[in-house]
Amino acid sequence: MKVVILISGRGSNMQALLEAGLPVEFACVISNKAEAKGLEIAAAHGVPTRVMSHRDYPDRATFDTALAAEIDRHAPDLVILAGFMRVLSAAFVLHYERRLINIHPALLPAFPGLDTHARALAAGVRLHGCTVHFVTQEVDSGPILAQAAVPVLPEDTQESLGMRVLHQEHLLFPMAIRWLAEGRASLGEHGRVIYSGLSCRSDSALSSPME
Ligand code: GAR
Repeated sequence: MKVVILISGRGSNMQALLEAGLPVEFACVISNKAEAKGLEIAAAHGVPTRVMSHRDYPDRATFDTALAAEIDRHAPDLVILAGFMRVLSAAFVLHYERRLINIHPALLPAFPGLDTHARALAAGVRLHGCTVHFVTQEVDSGPILAQAAVPVLPEDTQESLGMRVLHQEHLLFPMAIRWLAEGRASLGEHGRVIYSGLSCRSDSALSSPME
């Protein structure tokens, strides 16, 4: 399975993917920001990198067309958004239908968009987390592949909660991509993810607070 990763910054999720020993070929990492720390990490892992700044293009559609052309040079089976902080045009999403995957730092469909940890704290939810999903037209939406929940603790700040979620992102993302690469999860005809050979304990639960 050939994979192209899109990033915009730190690249810690990308790094988790590169270091997970996945049965995939990482063809290229593309950043829309030249200063993205993740570019150095990708290069250190021997993965080709490319910067494509959206500022060099007159509008979203033109940038997305150019981005797709660059991605398609690698003929990827999967395009992974690992902290790629741009809204994608409908045409782009359609072009990569069924092979575009995103990670989002919240338990979707709760808290799409930005500042998810602050919004979770403000809402008073007792469980928060992260979601890996196929990308569809709406921002941070689409068939869910995997989720991980963490407790929200009374003393949590945005930072402490964000760190707890990020730790889970680094575990969840490689696991979900492995399922896809090994054919243990796929997108069914009706827009729901189908799993095969994955076990699930029906009596397990994470609750918060705990007695
Ligand atoms: C991650 O927390 C990821 O879930 C989030 O950006 C961060 C990137 O960190 N993505 C989104 O908010 C997408 N809506 P990283 O560059 O260290 O992986």
